[in-house]
Amino acid sequence: MLTPEQRDRFQRDGYIVIPNFKPADEIARLRARAGEIVDAFDPAESRAIFTTRDQARASDAWFLGSDNTIRCFFEEEAFGPDGQLKQAKALSINKIGHAMHDLDPVFKAFTHDAKLAAAARDLGLEQPQIWQSMYIFKQPGIGGEVRWHQDATFFDSTPISVTTFWFALEDATIENGCLWVEPGGHRGPLRERFLRDGDAITMEKLDSTPWPDDSTAVPLEAKAGDLVCFHGLLPHYSAPNRSPVSRHAFTLHVTDARTAYSPRNWIQRDADFPVRGFD
Ligand code: FE2
Repeated sequence: MLTPEQRDRFQRDGYIVIPNFKPADEIARLRARAGEIVDAFDPAESRAIFTTRDQARASDAWFLGSDNTIRCFFEEEAFGPDGQLKQAKALSINKIGHAMHDLDPVFKAFTHDAKLAAAARDLGLEQPQIWQSMYIFKQPGIGGEVRWHQDATFFDSTPISVTTFWFALEDATIENGCLWVEPGGHRGPLRERFLRDGDAITMEKLDSTPWPDDSTAVPLEAKAGDLVCFHGLLPHYSAPNRSPVSRHAFTLHVTDARTAYSPRNWIQRDADFPVRGFD
């Protein structure tokens, strides 16, 4: 699937962009399905939690409860000072997470793709385990910023094996908040680790290496259908979307079963709901 040159580039830079990976009809199906999930989402579901507990704990609970389910999350700037949505619900959702790849037939079909299995294998994932899926909307005008981070912070294993598969579902540009990366930055250390202990979450500082200067970051503009693959240690961020167009993307986070997945990672599976690969 991948050329030797693409594999070399992944080793050297920590990422590759594969153009035209997914056909337009598959993307259209995924986008339509995401729209249906948002339509069916009753904001009161999450608001019930938010009004009865303090904000930080409430949002943690809504997040932690989405580990092996399907939940919608609002953009931070979705609400006005009166607590009402500033725009239609469909334009207010930040993302859907985190187990659509196993629970939703359309997302499942998109994920279980022989071409994707081959790409993962070529990137060194011999026994892939897909822990998480996210549908990210990056809404026009209010699409939130995601600061510098490494995805291995959330999917720690020994040794680190997490690899991110990031599908552009619309053209991602500098204007609408594309990814920015530090080429080669995956050779640096893991800076922090996100730990779960029951209902409590903490961020553990591991290394004081500073985040790259924004001026050294490289934008990964992508066309709808392109696939960006990146190493779990690659520092990356995305800017807010102040443009009038959305920037939908779909991501999968995948480790290798030959590495030891940390029992302290926030997503765990058991025998009733085992973690699966691309088959
Ligand atoms: Fe990330």
